[in-house]
Amino acid sequence: MSKAIYIASSESNSGKSIVTLGLMNILLGTIRKIAYFKPVIRDSPDNRKDINIETMIDHFELDTLYEDCYAFTYSELLRLRGEGNHSFVIDSIINKYKRLEDTHDFVLVDGMDFEGEGASFEFSSNVDIAKNLSIPLILVAKGSGYTPAEITRNVLSTMQILREREVPLLAVIANKLDPSKMEELQNLFAKTVSKRVLTYIIPYSKELSSPTMKEIAEGVNGKVLFGESYLSNPVDHFIVGAMQLQNCLTHIDENTLIVTPGDRGDIILAMIQANLSKNYPKVAGLVFSGGLTPDKPIIKLLEGLETLVPMVQVETGTFETVNKVASVKSRIYPENKLKIDFAIAAFEKNTDTVALVDKIATSQSKGITPRMFQYQLVKRARLAKKHIVLPEGSDPRILEAAGKLLKQEVVRLTILGKKDEIEASLLKLNIELDEKNVNIINPADSPLLPAYISTLYELRKSKNVNMDMATDFMKDGAYFGTMMVYKGDADGMVSGAINTTQHTIRPALQFIKTRPGVSTVSSVFFMCLEDRVIVFGDCAVIPKPTSDQLADIAISSAESSIMFGIEPRIAMLSYSSGASGTGEEVEKVRRATELVKQRRPDLPVEGPIQYDAAVDPIVGKQKLPNSKVAGQATVLIFPDLNTGNNTYKAVQRETGAVAIGPMLQGLNKPVNDLSRGCTVDDIFNTVVITAIQAQQSNLKI
Ligand code: ACO
Repeated sequence: MSKAIYIASSESNSGKSIVTLGLMNILLGTIRKIAYFKPVIRDSPDNRKDINIETMIDHFELDTLYEDCYAFTYSELLRLRGEGNHSFVIDSIINKYKRLEDTHDFVLVDGMDFEGEGASFEFSSNVDIAKNLSIPLILVAKGSGYTPAEITRNVLSTMQILREREVPLLAVIANKLDPSKMEELQNLFAKTVSKRVLTYIIPYSKELSSPTMKEIAEGVNGKVLFGESYLSNPVDHFIVGAMQLQNCLTHIDENTLIVTPGDRGDIILAMIQANLSKNYPKVAGLVFSGGLTPDKPIIKLLEGLETLVPMVQVETGTFETVNKVASVKSRIYPENKLKIDFAIAAFEKNTDTVALVDKIATSQSKGITPRMFQYQLVKRARLAKKHIVLPEGSDPRILEAAGKLLKQEVVRLTILGKKDEIEASLLKLNIELDEKNVNIINPADSPLLPAYISTLYELRKSKNVNMDMATDFMKDGAYFGTMMVYKGDADGMVSGAINTTQHTIRPALQFIKTRPGVSTVSSVFFMCLEDRVIVFGDCAVIPKPTSDQLADIAISSAESSIMFGIEPRIAMLSYSSGASGTGEEVEKVRRATELVKQRRPDLPVEGPIQYDAAVDPIVGKQKLPNSKVAGQATVLIFPDLNTGNNTYKAVQRETGAVAIGPMLQGLNKPVNDLSRGCTVDDIFNTVVITAIQAQQSNLKI
């Protein structure tokens, strides 16, 4: 089950809060602890709290702090986006959302309201957030002001956007529809909207759309003079009481607000009388314009009455006041219990609540987005701060990454190199390393050196390594760092910013060796594409794998994928799909696929298969219609290093994808290689995955 649902509308004034309230109410009937999260709240000029959050916390007695229920105000969002800080925005939203997800059984996420930057910006922000949180969505479509055909067209084009961004849509709820059009829209939805998506229609209701006198008083910036306890009176119409009294009386309907200059004592008294008279409809309230207060005798009279209507005084003239009244929108707020109850009742009456709960309960979040993936990596690494050794202390990128890692409290570090040189570089780079969590060791004069030399000699003497050779090897950072890991003096090693892959991983192959049950060390890259993360293997270690090694690579890559939260569906890549092609290279892949099936019948695997058939659902269906992997592969296994290495680089360069890795797999303890062109972020990410691997490798050598 997905742990959250995202409620979004595609334009302003759709009445989304009816759906939010209604859903929260039904979900609380089946799920124990639910949080409410609104990633972006409206700005409030006087720093008042967001009324949606207040209403949810207050009405449903939610166990969440106000501050935890949102990430940004709308103006903060605009500023950060304008400054190009999109990643920071998404990371912060994920961070806050995850905190709620960790402490609650379910999170109801309320999408952005529309504040005026343009519907497309706001809707695409909603889609972006839902996508990055990996949660399904319920769409609230505005029904007022449109014909059923227009509503259907809007819904279908919104659904197309969601499909393209691969955000699962569970239901469409059209709201505020003219009740006479219900049947027509129902028919159109039935004909055009996929049966997999639930569709409901909530008719327009005056009770939900009319603002209350409280909202009017706030909207016109007025001072309540009388009738404070009747501020929840709904306002269905308003008139200007500037005419003769008898004319004014003929214009009042049920729940009318009268805007009148404050010195029109005649109108004021007549309206109070009309409100009491059984021959006139109920008056909602009065607004006194022009900064005029009724004359003293009138005030005295009013004070002596038990007035049943709110009276509000404003400084603005009648014309301006009327404009303000006209623009007041009805909203739901904590004290307005009547409206909250009405919203919940309208939602329940017009939707199939059992089907909705069932749909939410059976929905699965699909895949993992790059930002969520990277967020989870750092979070996991922090769970048990592992000790990682970085042998290339002379490289400024290593020092910058070290600064970042220690600042974020992800790991403890040992940096190898000459202490005075490293300290001079740190000073030059203006990096301060937290001394408690970092060690600087020069292998050449480390007290650990003699023991390390004799251990290496013992381990490799059968391979013609003598003491002199062992001494020379051990002065090299890659050997020293790998030996620290072997001996348990560090939990993992990351190197390769300066040295070649061979130089970095050979010591690990020689004496850290493979895990029990694994005979091949290989590697994976986590390819963070625009909207999902997939696994590429092997792109760094084995130049020409045999079928046996290819099967090992596939199984290890699937296990790595599981370790990092990606459901494995393995595609064994070749230049042919299914039974169509022949040739030595295709046969190698075919044999490897059979071996994977024999060794791990639990893993979904397809091969030989071409890249397009592996990842594109349409091509996959055409070429291999019965395959469970074709079109939705998550683990892509290349037939050799030429193909793998160039493909990962091509994808990285041409699409801007972040490639995290190579992460070595199959070793007894984690050692990872960097590319010599690596950035500070690459080093950061590789240390993070090494720390996570170290958490998993409990094996004693
Ligand atoms: N799995 C398990 N053990 C292995 C493996 C493996 N894949 N490869 C070698 N070994 C073991 C050997 O059995 C041997 O053990 P022993 O000495 O105890 O008998 C030891 O490792 C050394 O073996 P060598 O044959 O000497 O291996 P060598 O050191 O020459 O090379 C290496 C191993 C570095 C993995 C080599 O295959 C290689 O160069 N691969 C390509 C690396 C590369 O250039 N990648 C592309 C760049 S990376 C990037 O772009 C991110």
